[in-house]
Amino acid sequence: MLQIGSIKMKNQVVLAPMAGVCNPAFRLIAKEFGAGLVCAEMVSDKAILHKNEKSLSMLYVDEREKPLSLQIFGGEKETLVEAAKFVDQNTNADIIDINMGCPVPKITKCDAGAKWLLDPNKIYEMVSATVDAVRKPVTVKMRMGWDEEHIFAVENAQAVERAGGSAIALHGRTRVQMYEGVANWDIIKQVKGSVSIPVMGNGDVKTPEDAKRMLDETGVDGVMIGRAALGNPWMLYQTINYLEHGVTPVEPPPREKIDVCMVHLDRLIDLKGENVAVREMRKHAAWYLKGMRGSGRIRDQINQFATRDDVANTLYGYIEQLEEQQAETSSAV
Ligand SMILES: Cc1cc2nc3c(=O)[nH]c(=O)nc-3n(C[C@H](O)[C@H](O)[C@H](O)COP(=O)(O)O)c2cc1C
Repeated sequence: MLQIGSIKMKNQVVLAPMAGVCNPAFRLIAKEFGAGLVCAEMVSDKAILHKNEKSLSMLYVDEREKPLSLQIFGGEKETLVEAAKFVDQNTNADIIDINMGCPVPKITKCDAGAKWLLDPNKIYEMVSATVDAVRKPVTVKMRMGWDEEHIFAVENAQAVERAGGSAIALHGRTRVQMYEGVANWDIIKQVKGSVSIPVMGNGDVKTPEDAKRMLDETGVDGVMIGRAALGNPWMLYQTINYLEHGVTPVEPPPREKIDVCMVHLDRLIDLKGENVAVREMRKHAAWYLKGMRGSGRIRDQINQFATRDDVANTLYGYIEQLEEQQAETSSAV
């Protein structure tokens, strides 16, 4: 079973941190669908220290989401450690995660995110200073390297372990790959074999079967799922069920998808107000609708809406049409 420090997860399935996605609205849904651990979207160390209102609100953790990991990013030791102390003393998070994988130039230019991957000594220094300053377990989420010529995944993971880090999540891509190409699970296996702290494997787990294959092939302690859970928290539940009971996944009916989509929207409204939530929901709605017949037109309409009622009426109108069509087809058979 996956255990990080003294925090025991009830299964090996972890929701990956995703900026613009993993706020309490979606995290709670992931939790309700069974995820053993949920990770929050990354927050800037400097923004925390400047008491930026939006960033501080991103540190809110609902009791029902626990165990939960809050992720910070930064490039300088002083600010990173101070921000970690703030998270340690002022939040309900169970784990403090350090981002060592963000490939975006705005972040790497500030020596943060994936930039660390080039320097195992810096990793040791930054992580040990953070570990010494806090009581919560400290983990690191990293990519396998900067580019094909600079793959220091094993050295970097060992630096995290020596520094007192409690676990590592490894995304099997380089910074240069961004989200392209295929994730390298061989490196994940190598890293797992080179440290004794828990390792969560990440990258290209698209189905419950992939999750099992990753666990079997690499020996990791947990599987971290990102994009496959977008608009599809069922994926988490299906994975747990498949891993624990060998149950083959069954697709939820469209109405169930829309019901959960609306729960998501309502929680976002509680968090951010209707105006921001409805806009933010556009991308999520597109993900929930993915694969449903004729949903492109609905997605386009939702992209124009500004109120909850418009979204709800359109989604449920569409589902009624779908169900009518389905009833006609089955009565014709
Ligand atoms: C929209 C989006 C936002 C992301 N934001 C973060 C983030 O805030 N912190 C982080 O460590 N990784 C972030 N990632 C990377 C994911 O956590 C994960 O490593 C990556 O998507 C690969 O896993 P997957 O193949 O299961 O999606 C993000 C990915 C996506 C798609």
